[in-house]
Amino acid sequence: MTDIRTVPVALPGREYDVVVGPGLLAEAGARIGPLLRRNRVAILTDENVAAHHLGPLTEALAAEGVAASALTLPAGEATKGWAQLSRAVEWLLTEKIERGDIVIALGGGVIGDLAGFAAAIVRRGIRFVQVPTTLLAQVDSSVGGKTGINTAQGKNLVGAFHQPSLVLADTSLLDTLSARDVLAGYGEVMKHGLLGDAAFFAWLEENGPAVAAGDPAARVRAVERSVEMKAGIVLRDETEQGDRALLNLGHTFCHALEAATGYSDRLLHGEGVAVGCALAFELSARLGHCAQEDPSRVRAHLKAMGMKTDLADIPGELPDARGLLDLMGQDKKVIDGRLRFVLARGIGAAFVTSEVPPEAVLEVLEEALAALGGP
Ligand code: GLY
Repeated sequence: MTDIRTVPVALPGREYDVVVGPGLLAEAGARIGPLLRRNRVAILTDENVAAHHLGPLTEALAAEGVAASALTLPAGEATKGWAQLSRAVEWLLTEKIERGDIVIALGGGVIGDLAGFAAAIVRRGIRFVQVPTTLLAQVDSSVGGKTGINTAQGKNLVGAFHQPSLVLADTSLLDTLSARDVLAGYGEVMKHGLLGDAAFFAWLEENGPAVAAGDPAARVRAVERSVEMKAGIVLRDETEQGDRALLNLGHTFCHALEAATGYSDRLLHGEGVAVGCALAFELSARLGHCAQEDPSRVRAHLKAMGMKTDLADIPGELPDARGLLDLMGQDKKVIDGRLRFVLARGIGAAFVTSEVPPEAVLEVLEEALAALGGP
């Protein structure tokens, strides 16, 4: 029997637990019930997730006498915008959801971010519970209180920091994901080892295949350790004035690649993070911050996992190095016109810097593109 693990997020006055383990959805009523002031909740979810998990969630709530109403939104990144936000907010108001009530976000990162933002702004803030259904959401987006939507100007440019009251990360829900989605989420798991825990990365080198294959104990450990690391960083820097930027390891490259591939199925976010981590380590080695063995080790692990590793693994054409660098310049992590990178002094030793000559980034990208055999 696989253990249930609890990771506390001890933000003063807004403490909450991230509970990790198999079978938690069936315990949702018992676990959410004690937080309620009256026996009803509102659930926001999407069509794909609802087909698998909405029935079991409402049954688990009903078993503890909690009535639930649900709004099912379309699946996909396009949902994370003004139109569906306004639909969700209007629905919560029509449902007469009050200040003391709880909204449950049942889904991946899109639903978690949108529902969290809706909860942040309805009646100036109501509580919400995250029930993340993807590996990416369990290890990253459901924890730490970043909520928001995309606009025509870019991703996540409108939002609020609004911490959940509880996160139920039911690892058995991951069984319904495609192998590709599991590996994309694994990109964020690996990122946590690379940025701050060399022993965890070494554990992943050994146990990553078991995590991907669905071994229950390996999945719980991978999610638990990722959440512990993220919670520790969020405690130090909730609103990303400093250390929280470490969680963006691989993301400056990733955002350029996502923009270059039109945020399409050509490259999932977690895949871009994995390729971006490999490039961030290449850049770190080129600038003399870490040994050349480190990027080689990152790439070897990605390849062993059967993950996208190199630019050549991204189907279709990519811009040239200058074009990719320009796309990085549109990232919201640019401060005073200077690109901010997360680099590493070794596996598990990341740091944030704006001291990166653009020529070095160009060289890394040119080398990576040359391996494509293109211009
Ligand atoms: N996903 C990065 C953060 O939560 O800060």
